[in-house]
Amino acid sequence: MTNLVTVGLQWGDEGKGKVVDCLAGGFDIVARFQGGSNAGHTVVVGDTTYKFRIMPSGVVQGKTAVIGNGVVVDLDVLIHEIEQLARSGIPVDLVLSERAHIITPLQIQVDGLIDEARGKNRVGTTRRGIGPTYGDKILRSGVRMIDLLNGDEDRWNAFFEYQRGRVERLFGSSVECHPHRTWLRLRQMAMTLRDSVADTGEFLVNATDSGKKVLFEGAQGTLLDIDHGTYPFVTSSNCVAAAASVGTGVPPSFLHDVLGVCKAYTTRVGAGPFPTELSDEMGEELRERGGERGTVTGRARRCGWLDLVALRYASRVNGVTALAVTKVDVLAGIRPLRVCVAYRINGEETTRFPADSRVLARVEPVLEDVEGWTPEEIEDWRSSSKAYDDLPGGLREYLALMAHHTRSRIALVSTGPARRDTVVVEGVLSSLTDASAL
Ligand code: GDP
Ligand code: IMO
Ligand code: MG
Repeated sequence: MTNLVTVGLQWGDEGKGKVVDCLAGGFDIVARFQGGSNAGHTVVVGDTTYKFRIMPSGVVQGKTAVIGNGVVVDLDVLIHEIEQLARSGIPVDLVLSERAHIITPLQIQVDGLIDEARGKNRVGTTRRGIGPTYGDKILRSGVRMIDLLNGDEDRWNAFFEYQRGRVERLFGSSVECHPHRTWLRLRQMAMTLRDSVADTGEFLVNATDSGKKVLFEGAQGTLLDIDHGTYPFVTSSNCVAAAASVGTGVPPSFLHDVLGVCKAYTTRVGAGPFPTELSDEMGEELRERGGERGTVTGRARRCGWLDLVALRYASRVNGVTALAVTKVDVLAGIRPLRVCVAYRINGEETTRFPADSRVLARVEPVLEDVEGWTPEEIEDWRSSSKAYDDLPGGLREYLALMAHHTRSRIALVSTGPARRDTVVVEGVLSSLTDASAL
């Protein structure tokens, strides 16, 4: 096995950045394939914390960074991250798709206008222009990297007028940016990146053929997927593993295995159904202990118990064969610790994940108590062997439950934000990739 796709199995923020950073050592290239700067991926190495919105997290390990055609790119954010990394002494070897769509200030403005206009039905987007940019892509009205490099201002002017019409006629607002100045700025930013621009499919296929290994880094999570998530409370891209192929231009056969990343509990930012949400003190406690605040918007994340129904659904959609479970330290000492094993809908129990968000909003979670583990047990384990088999018994049972419900195996367990707070199940990880992980 060579190439591996990592995907979030919940509503995002599962700890994908941390897991990708841990695994990247065994790969040559790390590739983002969807989403944009709505993502916020955190990597903690020693005393330094990196927060990436567009850059693949593998750059910290010095890996080649690929941003595929399926990503919507805010050039301001990308250039800012490249400069920040340079200041930290990390040069970036970037390959950016010529086909990637560009997020413009117009689409950022429209994102806010659309979500405001929804009133009480608002999605609570990150307001980074994601929905409008993907929308314009599908409407065949978008601006791509190649268009900026080709320097056709007439096409840009047509795009600007279409956006202006939408803002003025639909929302009664006026556009906040100037057509020519915005064009010059976007074009100038594109030109500074021109040496990095390529056909990412060609690049990745050639790299794989010459024995290089690619780690695909998902953003958002399966339950935010435009098709498979809790529509309409979703993002505007496919976040599932299959999107790694479409979103970079490699054939599906180049995706050799799928690692699902999930938290030991559940969180969600923004609006939408959340069956195991805890609106009480326990929810507040999880938020406090887990530092559950949005990386991009700073919003408080909603918190709840682990939802095994949703997790099984997400694992199936992605074809997950192994799990990376994060934030187990956050649950240490919580008693009783509960997990959701089924939903009750109109008095009937089911383990099926409903397609209708209105139904999902009404389900009653069927909760079971599990034994749990203590902070002392985690500390003892940390200061002694650090082997998977020596993890506290209650934690191992919890992980076994997750593996059972998702019909997969545990490959990695994260016990803290830093790289060193990670335990790898060697046999499982090496069956996904011959990477020596850490
Ligand atoms: P991502 O979007 O999936 O990459 O996740 P985020 O970076 O948005 O959110 C995960 C947060 O949890 C970050 O602040 C991480 O530093 C932190 N984190 C990751 N793994 C662990 C863990 O095992 N324990 C604790 N306490 N924090 C973790
Ligand atoms: P990472 O990659 C958590 C949520 C937003 C909102 C919905 C739509 O860090 O896991 P959008 O701006 O995408 O149109 O917003 O999706 N959302 C995320 N939630 N983590 C993310 O990314 C998210 N990206 C988008 O809060 O509910
Ligand atoms: Mg995040």
